[in-house]
Amino acid sequence: MLNIKSSIVLLGITSSLFANVAFAGTCDVNVEATPAMAFNVKEIAVPKTCKEITLNLKNTGTMAKAVMGHNIVISKTTDMQSVLADGSTAGLANNYVKQNDERVIGHTSVIGGGETTSVKIKLSNVKASDGYSFYCSFPGHASVMKGVFKLI
Ligand code: CO
Repeated sequence: MLNIKSSIVLLGITSSLFANVAFAGTCDVNVEATPAMAFNVKEIAVPKTCKEITLNLKNTGTMAKAVMGHNIVISKTTDMQSVLADGSTAGLANNYVKQNDERVIGHTSVIGGGETTSVKIKLSNVKASDGYSFYCSFPGHASVMKGVFKLI
């Protein structure tokens, strides 16, 4: 029988295992962009049973989106640099993502400090065998604001 003390220990182990993974066993993904120009997770792992995810982004910084805005873009890792280059050209008005970019699985809007945004992303074209990344396409950010996106 599990007493309260061992339950607390188990909880501690579980939360440290998943500390850097935005995985709740559901199709809802919550990510924060921090004032240190970083995401609070290095990996987004969603169950492959999800046909669609709801991606929620919170910017916990304070600076305006034109100065230090953040978004999340998901694509194959091999497409990341070209998506970023075209996104930079597309500009803030397009959330630093080329319009109708077929390489992009999904993306949020660019948001400033204190703001939140949410987007539903269909996973019909995502294969568990391919490598995907999530990253911020605000120019210059993706070198540090990036991580692995995968189905599990
Ligand atoms: Co950013």
